[in-house]
Amino acid sequence: MSVSRPAAVIVLAAGEGTRMKSKLPKVLHEICGRSMLGHVLAASAELDPERVVVVVGHGRDQVTQHLKDVAPGVGTAVQDRQNGTGHAVRMAVDALRAEGVTLSGTVVLAYGDTPLLRGETLSDLVAAHESAGNAVTVLSAKVPDPAGYGRVVRDAGGAFTEIVEHADATEEQRAVDEINSGMYAFDGALLSDVVNRLSTDNAKGEEYITDAVAILRGDGHPVDAAVARDWVEIQGVNDRVQLAEARRLLNDRLLTRIMRAGATVVDPATTWIDAEVEVGRDAVIEPQVQLQGATVVGEGAHVGPGALLRDTRVGAEAAVSHTVAHEAIIGAEATVGPYAYLRPGATLDRGAKVGTYVEVKNATVGEGSKVPHLTYVGDADIGRGVNIGASSVFVNYDGVNKHRTTIGDHARTGSDNTFVAPVGVGDGAYTGAGTVVREDVPPGALAVSAGHQQRNIDGWVRRKRPGTPAADAAQRADEAGGASEG
Ligand code: UD1
Ligand code: CA
Repeated sequence: MSVSRPAAVIVLAAGEGTRMKSKLPKVLHEICGRSMLGHVLAASAELDPERVVVVVGHGRDQVTQHLKDVAPGVGTAVQDRQNGTGHAVRMAVDALRAEGVTLSGTVVLAYGDTPLLRGETLSDLVAAHESAGNAVTVLSAKVPDPAGYGRVVRDAGGAFTEIVEHADATEEQRAVDEINSGMYAFDGALLSDVVNRLSTDNAKGEEYITDAVAILRGDGHPVDAAVARDWVEIQGVNDRVQLAEARRLLNDRLLTRIMRAGATVVDPATTWIDAEVEVGRDAVIEPQVQLQGATVVGEGAHVGPGALLRDTRVGAEAAVSHTVAHEAIIGAEATVGPYAYLRPGATLDRGAKVGTYVEVKNATVGEGSKVPHLTYVGDADIGRGVNIGASSVFVNYDGVNKHRTTIGDHARTGSDNTFVAPVGVGDGAYTGAGTVVREDVPPGALAVSAGHQQRNIDGWVRRKRPGTPAADAAQRADEAGGASEG
């Protein structure tokens, strides 16, 4: 079915979400790497609407800032008082009118607290709406527990007559299991008119957009409710229990997608992935893995058990276990872990190894190079075919500035080395166990520095690091010592 480009999608996000019991506005709560509002906007964007308007109110500054970050093309309308969903839509229509936009054609309405919504469901709704020529088409669903939702009321012949909110419903109406999902396709011109005719004569004393159905029907316009294929998708999130349920359901959907595309997920119950994650064919995800943000796992890679990877690229056939990685690049056939920590800017070339209790930050580990045990590599460039001995520290920080260390191709550094940056080890050089590398090591040389006596250079910090907290503390100690002497 072909559908038109909707004139607008209006998304309501002004409510406080009292039942969340949170400082954060409800629609900004996150599941699978996106705010709930972000998920609704992603589904809306699939309709390619002419404009998207988000109605903001409670926590308006936070929501507006969030929109700037994640959906800069989206417009906003302000609802100062949260006087109901109908009032919120009226604010959106008024804001558009103030911009000179007169709505005609199809307008889609959705709520910001339904994060499982898919674009396909919205386009099916628009298609049903347009082919029937309705004034409004409500997406409804049959749910196991309708409590709290607005009920879809039909007459004896099965024709849709109105939506009655739970609080306003009779016992008989409450028994109805077909509910209002909160997603609608409207005729834009009729919507613009009907939002000015909603009463507040109901249990909450609010303007309900749901009353538009009975009003438009009363005017003689066709209205209908289209039953969603999958009720799970329309679930609203009003509290943290429902937030967890929605996260679980969305996670299952995302895992199903990567499994259908050829990845193995050994234990879906303990694997969590974000909406934007990509996983290649024949990749294997072991139990207890979280893949977050823009993480990409290459073909045939093996991740887990136990890994938290955020905004990280894992190359084809790489293996990563019991590892935390943020903004790292792991090359093809590289191995990481168990118990490694890759921080932003860690880049492992093909076949590199970062082993157990190793932390890497803002450093490259060249092709086939190994950092196998108990080591901190910060701000370094390690060439190819290098072996870094166990228990080494790249001393990148002099208390004020960070400096880099360079290790040449095929160098072999001994255990328990300290590289005091800025410093370099040349191609093919060796260093002995326990070496403190303070001076550049020429290519092919052996550096040893074991056995030095400790030497204290008095007053160095105050002379060389003036104005730092360390220099201030040294000064205080000097003064205290001086006073006691005097
Ligand atoms: C609403 C529907 C109900 C439907 C259910 C589906 C109405 C009157 N009721 O009930 O029929 O079954 O959703 O999940 O529409 N909002 C505003 N401004 C307001 C009030 C709400 O922007 O003044 C926003 C909220 O931020 C939220 C959305 O509208 O994103 C829905 O509000 P909520 O209070 O959650 O409505 P429900 O009681 O769930
Ligand atoms: Ca709701």
